[in-house]
Amino acid sequence: MSQTFPHNPLTRFITSDETSWCLEQYQAHGGYQGFRKSLDMSQDQLLDTLKESNLRGRGGAGFPTGLKWSFVPRGNNAPSPRYLIVNADEMEPGVFKDRMLLEKTPHQIIEGLLVGAQTLGASIGYIFLRGDYYLAEERLTQALNECRAANLLGQNILGSELNFDIHLHTSAGRYICGEETALINSMEGKRATPRAKPPFPQVAGLWGKPTIVNNVETFCNLPHIINFGPQWFKELGLEEDAGTKIFGVSGRVNNPGLWELPMGTPIREIIEQHAGGMCDGYSLKGFLPGGGSTDFLVTEHLDVPMDYDAIGKQGSRMGTGTIIILDDKYCPVSMVLNLIKFFAQESCGWCTPCRDGLPWAQVLLEKIESGEGELEDITQLEELCRFAAPGNTFCALAPGAVEPLQSALNYFKKDFESHITQACCPFHVQQDLKLDLGHSHSMNKDGGESHEQV
Ligand SMILES: Cc1cc2nc3c(=O)[nH]c(=O)nc-3n(C[C@H](O)[C@H](O)[C@H](O)COP(=O)(O)O)c2cc1C
Ligand code: SF4
Repeated sequence: MSQTFPHNPLTRFITSDETSWCLEQYQAHGGYQGFRKSLDMSQDQLLDTLKESNLRGRGGAGFPTGLKWSFVPRGNNAPSPRYLIVNADEMEPGVFKDRMLLEKTPHQIIEGLLVGAQTLGASIGYIFLRGDYYLAEERLTQALNECRAANLLGQNILGSELNFDIHLHTSAGRYICGEETALINSMEGKRATPRAKPPFPQVAGLWGKPTIVNNVETFCNLPHIINFGPQWFKELGLEEDAGTKIFGVSGRVNNPGLWELPMGTPIREIIEQHAGGMCDGYSLKGFLPGGGSTDFLVTEHLDVPMDYDAIGKQGSRMGTGTIIILDDKYCPVSMVLNLIKFFAQESCGWCTPCRDGLPWAQVLLEKIESGEGELEDITQLEELCRFAAPGNTFCALAPGAVEPLQSALNYFKKDFESHITQACCPFHVQQDLKLDLGHSHSMNKDGGESHEQV
């Protein structure tokens, strides 16, 4: 029988009969074939296949997965046990792609871990799950039990020499726990602050042993690369980057959601075709291409492909590939303030630009948004962005946190200035006039109470 090569490897297991998370259904649709194939391959062959595929990590930074894995010591004298950790923390604002994979195809994640175990000789896997992903927790627990019963986990898996088990670890709920070394500290029962690198986790991670931390979507890709080959994977991408990607759109579009599409799909196609375009009465003003810690892009960037390097060249990052829309009726100052509040609250407090800089940026943005700002505040905000730039902080939280702010100051500076010159939020005024003409107290676009400005 000739093999069919899927164009949507990650989502083809999701069936309408609502059983895609069960072992029987997963196997009926070809699940665990990649892992079975990996049992007949050597560790070197598996690692070479992974490197050749050009898979880049889907957790935000796009680091080449094969290269990362090649740093793990292997062979008889390598330290053991070796650990694999699925980073399923997913707490960044506007990001919800891993949730879908966790809830709908838990077996795909387990299969990715099994391929990883076979490749690196790892004996223990962890899934570090966002604490309030309750449905995912339930389905992962069921899937792990099904695998233990079917000898897909445990000793001598499927008659092979592989011994591997997976533990589900639910997070207590801090965004910083998604940073891989803070994640490791929190799993060791320590305060979740990032670790100094080197040593990198690949060499000395969880309890000082070689550890691989990868995103949910990254692990999901592994069985398919083994099953269908690296060439197939590379050819899925439309531009430089290989494979498909779970892209998402949130905001005032007609059809917000998630879609598995080729890497390199143009942003315009994602927003206009898949997300159904802007809702009636709203136009696109800007967007964060990859979640709440990426720089704004604007309409002139709509034809840029969603590809790590292509987005990078435009001054932003593809991040997680989940686009957040800013429409023409929404106040950019308010949007950035909302994000900064989150990041300031989630700072682990380890370094000054983040611990003190982000709350100060919040104070200045609140001042501007409430109509009490001065032009000097904009200069101070720009300075704070430089203060929190990469290289000045211990981890990437603060540099990511200021990306929406610094780019909003670049693209939407007039909006910041008009808050100051008009001594109020011009967007709330427009909204109040439209929704509640003649009243001095009305609901803003979030359903919350707006400032009394009319
Ligand atoms: C503050 C912060 C939060 C992060 N949260 C996540 C997360 O929820 N999920 C994730 O996969 N990576 C997250 N990362 C990136 C991880 O540190 C790490 O790079 C990633 O898990 C590696 O996986 P990948 O190579 O498959 O992308 C975060 C990084 C930072 C700085
Ligand atoms: S940038 Fe510094 S203070 Fe902020 S989360 Fe990272 S280590 Fe902690």
